[in-house]
Order: sequence, then C-alpha cells, then structure tokens
Amino acid sequence: MTGARRVVAILGAGGTLGAALSRRFAGEPATDVVVSDLSADALEHTVAGLPDVRGAVETLTADVSDPTQVEAVVARAIDAFGRLDVLISNAGVLAPNGRIHNLSVDDWDRSYRVNVLGNVNGIKAAVGVMRPQGSGSIVLTASVAGMTAWSHAAPYCATKAAVIQLAKVAAVEYARDGIRVNCVCPGTFLSQIHDGLPPEAIDAIAVKHPLGLGSADDLLGAYSYLASDAARWTTGAAIVVDGGYAAP
Ligand SMILES: NC(=O)c1ccc[n+]([C@@H]2O[C@H](COP(=O)([O-])OP(=O)(O)OC[C@H]3O[C@@H](n4cnc5c(N)ncnc54)[C@H](O)[C@@H]3O)[C@@H](O)[C@H]2O)c1
Repeated sequence: MTGARRVVAILGAGGTLGAALSRRFAGEPATDVVVSDLSADALEHTVAGLPDVRGAVETLTADVSDPTQVEAVVARAIDAFGRLDVLISNAGVLAPNGRIHNLSVDDWDRSYRVNVLGNVNGIKAAVGVMRPQGSGSIVLTASVAGMTAWSHAAPYCATKAAVIQLAKVAAVEYARDGIRVNCVCPGTFLSQIHDGLPPEAIDAIAVKHPLGLGSADDLLGAYSYLASDAARWTTGAAIVVDGGYAAP
C-alpha cells in the first residue's frame, strides 16, 4: 500500500460475519470500503450498522458466482477510490442438511458456485488491479469444516476444503506480484446460515467447541491482521479461529 488511505472491498457483506467485517473495516483509520452482497436488503442492514466515524462507503449488489458482477465490485473501488488494497471474500452457503446419498446435484452445484467459484471470481478480479499496483491482500472465508468432517454437510466441507487449497495456490502464484492470499477458518458462530438446521444439530456442534460457540466479533482480529502490514510475511495461511473446535 502506497497511498495514505487504504481501500477494502468486502464480498458477502450482508450476513452476520459480513456485517461485522464491514463495521470493523469501515471504522479502521484511513480506510474506505466497498461493501457488496447478493441481497440488497442484507446490504442495507449492513450499511445501517456502520459506525458514525468512518471513511467513505460504496455499496453495490453482486452475485459472487457471476464473474462480471464481481469485476463490477472491484471496478467500483477503482472508480471511487483509485485502488484496491484488500479484498475480503466472505460469501458462503450451506447446502441442506443431508447425507451424501440424499443430496442433489443442485445442492452440490450451488455450494460449488458460491463457495468455490465465488472465491475464484474474487481472486481473479482483485489480482487484475493488485498486480499492476504491485501490492494487495486477499482474505477468503473458509471454515473448520474444510479441515474436519461434518456428517450431513459434505458439500460444505468439500467446498470449504477447496477454499483453503485455493488460498494456498493463489498465495504461491501471486507472491511475486506483491499480493498475499490467506484464509480464515472460523468455528461455529450462529448466523442466518444455520436457518433450517434442527436445534439438535446446533447443540451437537456447540458441545464440540471447548470455548463454546463464538460470535462474528470473535473473528475480526484475524481478518484485521491478515489485511494489515503486520501480516506482510504471512501468505498461504489458514488461520483457525474456532474456540478450540479443531484442537482435539
Ligand atoms: N456461521 C458459521 O458458523 C460459520 C462458520 C465457518 C465459516 N462460515 C462462513 O462465514 C461466511 C459468512 O457466513 P455467515 O455465517 O455470516 O452467514 P450469513 O448467511 O449470515 O451470510 C452469508 C452472506 O453471503 C451472502 N451470499 C450468499 N450467496 C451469495 C452470492 N452468490 N453472492 C454474494 N453474496 C452471497 C448472503 O446474502 C449473506 O449475506 C460464509 O462464507 C460461511 O460459510 C460461517
């Protein structure tokens, strides 16, 4: 980053974690943000929750599975602020709860298109402007589900494992361009993503977290770190923030 101000774009900014990330980055010093989500309503809710003391904020709806819409998010950063220093790629979906033989091709397809292709589209769009800049930090949201087996959640586990690998490969490919790529692997914090899960499924997950279920705010330090120059020698990392879930 060479300018006095930093520009952060957040994909999937409308949900529980996305709103918390938007609050955090919008409130950081000398930072302007572009916040984006598939849902205009969710995005409006996020913007309403932004801190009073903040940099400039641009908003637009975008479906991460559509490369053109993701490119439009990055283009907005360039048009409004002239650069993009940080991309947080946070959109994600959980397929319906079910064992592998009960899940449809559509369940797999949606998980792949949002959780995998969405991150690919984010990386492609971001490196398009970060490579000429010679700098940038990309942070993907993976999950501990990408490194541990969750029964009845194969599309989520498999696609989140892919996100971790994607971050590693992108880290290797773009290091020489001055771009760092990392991911955060959260444990469970309650959000809309769990809508429709039976309470017993939530309880079964909760007891596996030694520190209990977390909140979106518990994750923000990892994102702030990875986005910052303090992480200048960190790339290809999958930072686990999970209340001890993956420790055993
Ligand atoms: N909640 C958890 O326990 C947990 C744990 C680990 C990882 N995660 C990950 O954290 C991220 C945020 O999840 P959350 O728990 O805040 O869920 P959430 O459902 O509250 O937020 C997800 C957001 O992604 C958006 N989205 C969905 N499809 C999209 C698309 N095609 N294009 C753009 N945006 C789209 C939704 O509109 C929503 O605003 C996800 O990647 C999720 O997989 C969540």
